Amino acid sequence: MKVNGVPTRTIWSLDDGQAVGIVDQTLLPYRFEKLVLSDWRALADAIVTMKVRGAPLIGIAAVWAMTLAIRDDATDEAIHRVRSELIACRPTAVDLQWGVDQIVKRVMPFKPRERFIAAVKLAEELTQANVLANRAIGTHGAKVIAEIYAKKRAPVNILTHCNAGWLATVDYGTALSAVYIAFEQGIPVHVWVDETRPRNQGLLTAWELEACGVPHTVIVDNAGGHLMQHREVDMVLVGADRITAIGDVANKIGTYLKALAAKDMDVPFYVAAPSSSIDWTIQDGKHSIEIENRDGNELRYVRGLDKSGRVTDIEIISPLTNVENPAFDVTPARLVTGIITERGVCAPEFLTRLFPEGARRGMR
Ligand code: MRU
Repeated sequence: MKVNGVPTRTIWSLDDGQAVGIVDQTLLPYRFEKLVLSDWRALADAIVTMKVRGAPLIGIAAVWAMTLAIRDDATDEAIHRVRSELIACRPTAVDLQWGVDQIVKRVMPFKPRERFIAAVKLAEELTQANVLANRAIGTHGAKVIAEIYAKKRAPVNILTHCNAGWLATVDYGTALSAVYIAFEQGIPVHVWVDETRPRNQGLLTAWELEACGVPHTVIVDNAGGHLMQHREVDMVLVGADRITAIGDVANKIGTYLKALAAKDMDVPFYVAAPSSSIDWTIQDGKHSIEIENRDGNELRYVRGLDKSGRVTDIEIISPLTNVENPAFDVTPARLVTGIITERGVCAPEFLTRLFPEGARRGMR
């Protein structure tokens, strides 16, 4: 995607894989800044603090973190130790484990002194594959939007939650990739953007849509049900952090409530995600997916610009008040109309038909 007219990705390699560049998402939408990280621990910290975020991007960031760790120590023991540390950084997004394991599995057969070069090559391939998968998701998703437009013959109103745009991937995004491609094809769209407390990823979504000229409106998280009751939403389209083999979907906290309202109002509810977000080892999402609990300070403080234009955090909840901050929830498959993947769109129960190899192995 373009930032100020310049094609930009969210992560890129530098110096033959000795470092990576990232966009610091904690400063957006207020300031656009890039960081150069040359140590795996710095990249792990960027994942924890959400300088990089969004399941597919976390997966690729972990691929590069693992690669930098192998540069520093390519012994079996070090690789297994770093693997465990990285996976613990953010437990819900399965792409993180997927990314780390891609490197570990495919680099281990090499002799230790050959492992870094092999890891860099693989990391470059996985980074590029992420872009292609997202573009394919967008192409399939745009067909769903086109079908709604063909019936409605008026702008398609799409409600999205959190940020499943290019910032959450290497490029294009997942849910927003479909919106971008539909928009490019001339289908009139309008996006209802959930603010997405407490981290307000909706503001990232609005920033992206603004840059691409896609009509959109930011709403508070609780407005979706009301808008659906008044027929102001034609489809809900979100990303995913982990999808089970039967199609239960973990995504940003609040997604489940949108799915319930959508079911009540017969609004189609679609999830867009690459196959790296499918965890073939589990079925029942509510009982099997670990939900990341994040620091309560994310609720206590709100980030914005002060009157002098400085990025600043304001305390809005007393330190004496208890807070709880589960970052994700699980939407059961029965509330999901379709899952949009790089191989096409299917009802949740047919995921295993689209990816027979994943289902067979019971692995990601
Ligand atoms: O906590 P975040 O910002 O990493 O959560 C992101 C989401 O929940 C996204 O909807 C999900 O990762 C899909 S991104 C393509």
